[in-house]
Parts: sequence; structure tokens; C-alpha cells
Amino acid sequence: MSRTILLTGATGTVSTALIDALPGADLRALVRDESKADGLRERGIEVVAGDLDDARSLPPAFEGVHDLWLLVPNGPRAPENNMNALWAARQAGVDRVVRLSVVGAAHDAPNRSGRLHALSDRETERSGLRWTILRPHWFMQNLLNEAGDIAATGTFSMNMASARLGMIDARDIAESAARVLLDEPDRHHGKTYTLTGPRSLSFDEVAVELEKVLGRSVGHLPVSDDAKRETLLGYGVPKWIVDMLEEYARAYAAGWGDFTTDAVAGLLGRPPRDFAEFARDHAARFTAPE
Ligand SMILES: NC(=O)c1ccc[n+]([C@@H]2O[C@H](COP(=O)([O-])OP(=O)(O)OC[C@H]3O[C@@H](n4cnc5c(N)ncnc54)[C@H](OP(=O)(O)O)[C@@H]3O)[C@@H](O)[C@H]2O)c1
Repeated sequence: MSRTILLTGATGTVSTALIDALPGADLRALVRDESKADGLRERGIEVVAGDLDDARSLPPAFEGVHDLWLLVPNGPRAPENNMNALWAARQAGVDRVVRLSVVGAAHDAPNRSGRLHALSDRETERSGLRWTILRPHWFMQNLLNEAGDIAATGTFSMNMASARLGMIDARDIAESAARVLLDEPDRHHGKTYTLTGPRSLSFDEVAVELEKVLGRSVGHLPVSDDAKRETLLGYGVPKWIVDMLEEYARAYAAGWGDFTTDAVAGLLGRPPRDFAEFARDHAARFTAPE
């Protein structure tokens, strides 16, 4: 009998890639806003409305579910969102949860997201469900936020100085999650995987890789925390998120993200995608419109 997998965050970066990585699986998506779900329905995915902020809205989505892909959005309510989902899962008799956490999640992490994820990781470990936790490094896809600047000016501004990051393509996170979900339920139970890309890169090196793919000059401009903060607030990014990003930037500038692991290769039997492949596959996004 096929297992029903409930996807949270189904309209977001990682879960969208996870859907690509699970062709033919019995998928159900939890969405807040059904008007955003036409694309999911067109792909044959059952859609059920529910909001992780609202525990009462969740039970229908969890009925008959075997596996929960649990991704909570960044924000101060993340642990509450995780708690609501896990409680609904327990009530519905869900067998297994595969949870997306974050690199370096710990009670003493130097950033609030890492500390909040640590609370939810611990709750997941104690949930009574079979569990696996994925802790991915910085997403290469974050650079798509800089694509407009790169296309328009040939430069991008980061407040991480000469930080090196073991950044990962979100498609490799998704394929790792799919591997765990498709393997038999005990295989990865009780495991936490820290997922990274194949090499630790500075943003100067990112610029060089983009130059090679785009065939034109790309420059990394190191900026201060205050300058980045002003830009992000100007784009309407909530202050809590801006503060969180600044905490990460400081940690990364101090060397906190300069490492890689072999977890993706261990799960997938192949190396993770290099930044060069990410750049090639997204070249159009970094290119100015005619
Ligand atoms: N970016 C990084 O470098 C990085 C690295 C490691 C870990 N992470 C972790 O990755 C996660 C974010 O993943 P992502 O980038 O794939 O997400 P994303 O693209 O930001 O999408 C967030 C998803 O969550 C949904 N959502 C938001 N609030 C919700 C609510 N109250 N109830 C139900 N669904 C809700 C959104 O649905 P709507 O369409 O309704 O908005 C959307 O599908 C976070 O936990 C973050 O800490 C990020």
C-alpha cells in the first residue's frame, strides 16, 4: 500500500523541489491560501486548507497520513507552528515525521533561528513518532534575492565580509528528503543529517562563478550590517527577519559556516550539486531583460 505524505510549506522553495523529487508518490499539501494551490492540483496533489498558526484548522489535513514533511516558516512563531503540526500528527496516528531544521541548530546557536529550530528538533525527537531531522546549510537559492541587482548593475551586496559557506542547492535538500521518505520507515529513524554543498565558497568566489556562466563582469560588494539592514527594511522585510539575518551574517563572517559534510553523498550516492551547476541552471534569472 502506498504511503500518504503530507507536505507543509508546499508553495515554498524546498517543498516545491521535494514535489519534483517525489514523482508518483501519494502527496497531500497543506496550504493556507487555496487560491495559490492550482499548480499543486494540476500536478495531481490533493490540497487541504490549514494554517500552522491555527491548531484547530489542522486535523482534516492529517487524516490518513503516514509521513509528515514538516517545514515551518522562519519567524517567532516557528516553535508553535511545529508544535501544532506534531500534535495534529500524533492525534491522527501519523507514523513518521521528516523535519527541515537548519544548519547549526542548537540551544546555544549564535542566531535566533538556530535556537528556535533547536526547540522544535528536541520536540520532534520526543514526539513518539519515527523521526528524521535535516539541517541544511545556507541555500544557494538565497542568491536569487540578489538576481535583480546582478542583472541590473553587475554587482551584489552582502554583509558577510569574507565569509565562506558550505552552501547547498535546495534541490539537493529536497532529493535527500525524498530519499528518506522513500526508504522504509526505520532506516533513517533517529538520525539527524547536516546537509551541505560540495565546497565552502566565499562571495568573491560566487561572483567569479557567476561571471564564468554569464560571460560578463559580476562583483561582490561587501557592505556593513547597517547598510544591509536599511536595504532589507526598505524592501519591506519584517524587522524580526532582518535581525535574524544579521545574526547569521555575523556568525558567518566569523567563520561559523565554513565547513562541508558528506551527508548528501551518503544519502544520494552522488556528490551534491556544485555552485557552477546552480549558476548555469538559473542563468536567466541573473541576466538583465532585453
Ligand atoms: N534560506 C536558508 O538559507 C535556509 C537554510 C537552512 C534552513 N532554512 C529553513 O528553511 C525553512 C524555509 O524553507 P523555504 O525557504 O523552502 O520556505 P519558503 O520558500 O519561505 O516558504 C515558506 C512556506 O511556508 C508556508 N507558510 C508560511 N506560513 C505558514 C502558516 N502559518 N501555515 C502554513 N504554511 C505556512 C508558505 O505558504 P504561503 O504560500 O501560504 O505563504 C510557504 O509554502 C525555514 O524553516 C528556514 O529556517 C533556510
